[in-house]
Amino acid sequence: MPGPPDARRVLVSARVYSALQRALGAARVRRVLVAEHLRPAPGERVLDLGCGPGDVRAELPAVEYVGVDHSERYLAAARARHAGRGRFVRADLRLLRLEDEEPFDAAIAIGVLHHLDDGEGAAMLASAAHALKSSGRLITIDPALGDRESPLARWLILRDRGRHLRSSEGYAGLARGRFDHVVASTRHDLARVPYCHAILECTEPRP
Ligand SMILES: C[S@@+](CC[C@H](N)C(=O)[O-])C[C@H]1O[C@@H](n2cnc3c(N)ncnc32)[C@H](O)[C@@H]1O
Repeated sequence: MPGPPDARRVLVSARVYSALQRALGAARVRRVLVAEHLRPAPGERVLDLGCGPGDVRAELPAVEYVGVDHSERYLAAARARHAGRGRFVRADLRLLRLEDEEPFDAAIAIGVLHHLDDGEGAAMLASAAHALKSSGRLITIDPALGDRESPLARWLILRDRGRHLRSSEGYAGLARGRFDHVVASTRHDLARVPYCHAILECTEPRP
């Protein structure tokens, strides 16, 4: 009979994820994303879609933070690390309906869209549009393919576990299904290794 989840193993594997991310320069990527794109003001309500172990929480000021993920393993790590600094909720982003939540000022999805096919991505974007105030914004970042990345960057990006890599315009096209204003930018300089990121700033949500 399967025993109860091994909490220690769960926390160790979330730590391995965060350590690997740090080695690749993900902390800097998150810092730039927050400072240049999300620009959160203290007191804002921020929704983190696919929050994983909650690594971005450390980069945010005193916001009202809600992280959502379907992995209990990551949520357990996030709750342990950020006790009292937000809520971490288990849910599937494709079916997310936050009816009991006040509308959010901002949402972020870091490294999530490239794990979702077009139908699933559209469902997540619909959830985000629904959860935001009409003045709210969604910021996403994902590995980009087909945006003049170097051969080494392309090789590294293709090692990612996400099966739905797109160009910056590919991600933007998906977001335009739910947001009237979408600005896509491509960055080749964010990681510690050759890489290419697509960042979207989405405003004017259509719930
Ligand atoms: C690459 S990780 C990024 C985690 C985190 N945003 C970060 O910055 O480290 C992608 C996350 O999306 C979550 N995820 C993927 N598909 C999901 C879904 N359908 N519902 C909820 N979470 C999902 C995974 O569990 C994982 O934590």
